[in-house]
Amino acid sequence: MKVLVIGSGAREHALCWKLKQSRHVKQIFAAPGSDGMAKVATLVPIGVGEIDKLLAFARENRVDLTVVGPEDPLVAGIVDRFQKKGLRIYGPGQNAARLEGSKAYAKDVMRRHAIPTAGHKTYDKPEPALEYLTHCDYPVVLKADGLAAGKGVSIVEDYAQAEAAVKECMVRKRFGDAGKRLLIEDFLQGEEISVHAITDGHNILPLCLAQDHKRVGDGDSGENTGGMGTYSPLPQVEEATSDQIQEEIIVRSVHAMNREEVPFRGTMFVGVMLTKQGPRVLEYNVRFGDPETQTILARLKGDLFEILSATVDGKLDQVQADWDERTAVTVVLASGGYPRDFAKGYKIHGLEYDLGPDVMVFHAGTKKVDGEWFTNGGRVLSVTALGQDLQEARAKAYAAIEKIRFDKMIYRKDIGWRGMK
Ligand code: AMP
Ligand code: GLY
Repeated sequence: MKVLVIGSGAREHALCWKLKQSRHVKQIFAAPGSDGMAKVATLVPIGVGEIDKLLAFARENRVDLTVVGPEDPLVAGIVDRFQKKGLRIYGPGQNAARLEGSKAYAKDVMRRHAIPTAGHKTYDKPEPALEYLTHCDYPVVLKADGLAAGKGVSIVEDYAQAEAAVKECMVRKRFGDAGKRLLIEDFLQGEEISVHAITDGHNILPLCLAQDHKRVGDGDSGENTGGMGTYSPLPQVEEATSDQIQEEIIVRSVHAMNREEVPFRGTMFVGVMLTKQGPRVLEYNVRFGDPETQTILARLKGDLFEILSATVDGKLDQVQADWDERTAVTVVLASGGYPRDFAKGYKIHGLEYDLGPDVMVFHAGTKKVDGEWFTNGGRVLSVTALGQDLQEARAKAYAAIEKIRFDKMIYRKDIGWRGMK
């Protein structure tokens, strides 16, 4: 079989790495991919937004299955476009992808189907939003409705901060059309976890729980990022809680989408806050998380191609997945300045070492020039290690990182700290 993976980050590198292990997969294409993926995939110079070209490529090359990494093409309707031409593609259609593409839509679905989440209000104009903010309880969370590359959420402590955020979003239009509508959400307190499930609309395959570290600095300090590291399993989450999340959030969400007549097929990745009152949805994503995927796939014992392919065919009940009992830890190596301004082009040392069978290095933003590696993005590499327990997996990941260096390299030294308590 020939597979096309769309995207170029460490998540897509991990998807290619795992798909390559399938006995069904003969060739993998990655569009656009990256130099770091060239060992496992044939690179195709087409961007993730160029749906016409991707479609033509998949037809001409008789691709058997296309797997979409990032959210933008899903929200733009790539799945519907491929399916109309009879091409097999993994991911939700455009209507179902609105779960991530519009936070107001997601909130409506949750309200209609009693899926637990924070209370909120939606505004189309700044004046009534500002009026509400004069008498609400702080902190509150302001969210741009649409896709804003992870930058559309701000937690504000008082009216002055809230006013500045509302104006930035609705008057100065920092997020463009994505900020035309604004949600004001109650602030939830608790520990945040990443819950992934694969579903064909009827059958659900829960993936192992993971936890991301969104802030750039140790001890969860500094700015929010796309994610600085993950680990799995989560020793602090009891089975009863995990069962409750499956029943009240995952199963209910899949059924909700069926009752809304927009069946969801693909990866449902829910950000969940574990509050004193129970688990609450923070947000839906309609794709695999990055860097969650690196950690989850390191623990997956099973054929990823079979799982994704069965999902496309509505036969997810015919495949199974087991989980490696060991712990996986992923640490993101980023370029200083990330998530804001960072430079590119620093030489990367140490990628030539063999780090052993339990350590994987997935490339996010790298470039190869004349046989040497250089940084080419904010998040540069993901180092994933497996160990008997969290302590050992962490030790292995950090020992591997000791061998890798580039100018201005930053990374969190405390990945997994909540699981060590
Ligand atoms: P989102 O893109 O909705 O996941 O929001 C980005 C981050 O903001 C989340 O990962 C949380 O850490 C935080 N956040 C979002 N909503 C809330 C909330 N209602 N209460 C507290 N923190 C939140
Ligand atoms: N790591 C969070 C995300 O992929 O959205």
